[in-house]
Amino acid sequence: MSILITGGAGYIGSHTVVELLKKNFEVIVVDDFSNSKHEVLNRIKKITGKSFTFYEETLLNKEGLENIFKENNIEAVIHFAGYKAVGESVEKPLKYYRNNIIGTITLMELMNEYAVKNMVFSSSATVYGMNNVVPFKETMPLSTTNPYGTTKMFIEQILQDQSIADKDWSTALLRYFNPIGAHESGLIGEDPSEVPNNLMPYLTQVAVGKRAKLSVFGDTYKTPDGTGVRDYIHVVDLAKGHIQALEKVLHSTGIEAYNLGTGKGTSVLDLVRTFEKENGVDIPYEIVEPRAGDIASSYADVSKAKEELNWETKLTIDDMVRDSWNWQKNNPNGYE
Ligand code: UD1
Repeated sequence: MSILITGGAGYIGSHTVVELLKKNFEVIVVDDFSNSKHEVLNRIKKITGKSFTFYEETLLNKEGLENIFKENNIEAVIHFAGYKAVGESVEKPLKYYRNNIIGTITLMELMNEYAVKNMVFSSSATVYGMNNVVPFKETMPLSTTNPYGTTKMFIEQILQDQSIADKDWSTALLRYFNPIGAHESGLIGEDPSEVPNNLMPYLTQVAVGKRAKLSVFGDTYKTPDGTGVRDYIHVVDLAKGHIQALEKVLHSTGIEAYNLGTGKGTSVLDLVRTFEKENGVDIPYEIVEPRAGDIASSYADVSKAKEELNWETKLTIDDMVRDSWNWQKNNPNGYE
């Protein structure tokens, strides 16, 4: 029996494939390389010394996707594949709705046809919107501020409705906080194809000399130092959370959402200073206007994942900044 990983060549997907192979799961990766590189597959093999099956395919091509279900004995799906650039989703909403929503529905139809009803879904803390008070709990009302976030919220609802309609479905909705860091080997990590939108990949590109300085988006938020506070989580801890969620869905039915975070908030300036101190590099920065749609603080209540998935984070902010820098320094141009 195999586990199908959609988007397995991406940042979080690749780290999860490594953890699955370490636990001796049989892994099938499907990816269309719209935002990832083939080289990542070699790196995964190098880290684990193990092989896995791989298909280059988009979830929008039902026939191609069906071949994967025909040719393999799939037991569960971990579904990462999706577009994720917030700004682009505002400019091209239909591109996001088509790819993320229709891709997921196509995948779920095939799961039904081939009686594969175990699903771990890559959601986001973005579904907590702008109106909730930290720490965010899974029971809070959901809302979003951009089409990317709305695709995550809609897919959660689609999976919810499916699990009501068919009691054999077993689903975990994983709401990620802010994944950063990289595998300790420095062989895999985050490799944005465009100018990075997120803080850590931008910061490491400043550190490596590809960009002149970091823009800090606002310093007058109601936070201890005025800059935005987020719950940064090491991508390897996050990947391990998927293994725990997979074990849970394989041994139960129904649907549950889980926050995957550390439960601790770190400000932009805290992260910059920790990066400088731990890695011995200077990060020039300037304070600029706040970014539209940003909230002051986002961090998780992590008690549900701890109790029900028997999972909690182990790696610290120091580990995260060290591993992010180790990856960027060893791969100044990513996988190219
Ligand atoms: C962003 C997305 C969110 C998505 C998540 C993961 C927005 C509004 N939100 O979350 O929907 O799920 O990424 O991909 O884009 N910052 C700077 N300078 C920078 C970049 C960021 O000061 O160049 C600040 C931000 O204002 C924020 C913090 O750093 O306070 C983290 O930003 P980021 O890494 O983009 O993550 P989120 O905004 O939390």
